[in-house]
Amino acid sequence: MELIKDGIRIDGRKKDELREIKIKAGVLKRADGSAYVEWGMNKVYAAVYGPRELYPRFLRRYDKAILQCRYNMASFSVEERKRPGPDRRSVEISKVTRSALEPVVLTENFPESVINVNIEIVQAEAGTRCAGITAASVALADAGIPMRDLLPACAAGKVGGEIVLDLCKEEDNFGESDLPIAMVPRTGGITLLQMDGLMTEEEIEEALNLAKKGCKIIYEKQKEALKQKYRGNNND
Ligand code: CDP
Repeated sequence: MELIKDGIRIDGRKKDELREIKIKAGVLKRADGSAYVEWGMNKVYAAVYGPRELYPRFLRRYDKAILQCRYNMASFSVEERKRPGPDRRSVEISKVTRSALEPVVLTENFPESVINVNIEIVQAEAGTRCAGITAASVALADAGIPMRDLLPACAAGKVGGEIVLDLCKEEDNFGESDLPIAMVPRTGGITLLQMDGLMTEEEIEEALNLAKKGCKIIYEKQKEALKQKYRGNNND
């Protein structure tokens, strides 16, 4: 399969172009904070509850709140029906999501508490961990939880010998490498960095820089989503 031809990718994008992204804050009435992200064909909800007292007590931390993150894929979200419930992949993504978000949340403000972050993937088409983290940080902010910054996440990788931004499904399946990151925009700090496939050191650096550029664009959309909500014109 030819994934890239004359600099144009299989879905018509340029190498440094993101898929179309829409972010909306405050979409779920019963959660303390929420967000919805449409990213290409991905459709993702994030719902935040808390901070509230943590039970069982032995899990409490005297110095900070703990973050509990749950990434879940609906059985109808993928081409081949997914068996409901947690699997190895969702346990892994829940864990990396928690450790990506923890440095940006002021957990020290809420000792002995828990903050729940639920991520539901209702439609999946590559890049769902990034979409989930992007949605979760908007939902945390929407819940009024103090944060050092929002946390945009985005992948770059190698496809058909070229370094490209934000891999689509075909590129993820048949490309050489995928490198998702989450970045704290104010400091440039990275809280998630994963990679599969093969790249040279130079290519990794190029992909990392490209993914950071993607994060900056997504950051603007995250802020805009929160502003939209608090301006009160969130009804489209
Ligand atoms: O979604 P993300 O790229 O963060 O994670 P991945 O493990 O690299 O999965 C890539 C893609 O494979 C997902 O976004 C889904 O589109 C697809 N997938 C699937 O079709 N069935 C699964 N059980 C898991 C993933």
